[in-house]
Amino acid sequence: MSDFNHFRFVALFYDRLFAFLKPERLRQLLQVPVHGVLLDVGGGTGRVAQVLRSLADQVIVLDTSAAMLGRARDKGLLAVKGEAENLPFADDAMTRILMVDAFHHLRDQRQAAMETLRVLEPGGRLVIEEPNVEHIAVKLVALGEKVVLMRSSFQPPARVREIFEAFGGRVTIEREGFNFWAVIQVHQ
Ligand SMILES: C[S@@+](CC[C@H](N)C(=O)[O-])C[C@H]1O[C@@H](n2cnc3c(N)ncnc32)[C@H](O)[C@@H]1O
Repeated sequence: MSDFNHFRFVALFYDRLFAFLKPERLRQLLQVPVHGVLLDVGGGTGRVAQVLRSLADQVIVLDTSAAMLGRARDKGLLAVKGEAENLPFADDAMTRILMVDAFHHLRDQRQAAMETLRVLEPGGRLVIEEPNVEHIAVKLVALGEKVVLMRSSFQPPARVREIFEAFGGRVTIEREGFNFWAVIQVHQ
């Protein structure tokens, strides 16, 4: 698993670039506070996890980029180097899973869907926040990421729904502004 990616270079100033964060909707969709473990997949610098850290018994940030995880550790967060496609956790280990602005960066979205559902406990919730590529502005961002050779593959909400439903997830979608949220649950 190589650390040679774009995030290695932006890790130092990432939080200043993406300072804006409204945690209210995430809190509501995740239904936290909760007892158990909250896993932030592709959690990077812990920008989001730090806001949610008091809302579960344990919060874990998982990411492929050692540089991004270094920033998360600086915040006192538990940071684990790993891939969404091959999560180093037991079945049903997570009470809540979060993925903000990371799904379109994944190497294999279907494999990651399977893995996140594997580690999510029955009755748990997985919340994915993504830029909505149905928006022209997000289409332009997607194009920009292609130009700088990022491995991005933005999916519209309906496709994200299909991917998770194929692995038995129950999916609801919310849209607002340039973003959408997919809330995925597995049967108890
Ligand atoms: C745009 S950043 C978002 C970081 C964080 N979620 C946030 O909102 O601040 C995307 C993150 O996904 C990570 N990433 C990319 N591919 C990944 C994969 N296959 N598994 C886990 N993390 C991955 C990158 O290293 C990067 O830190």
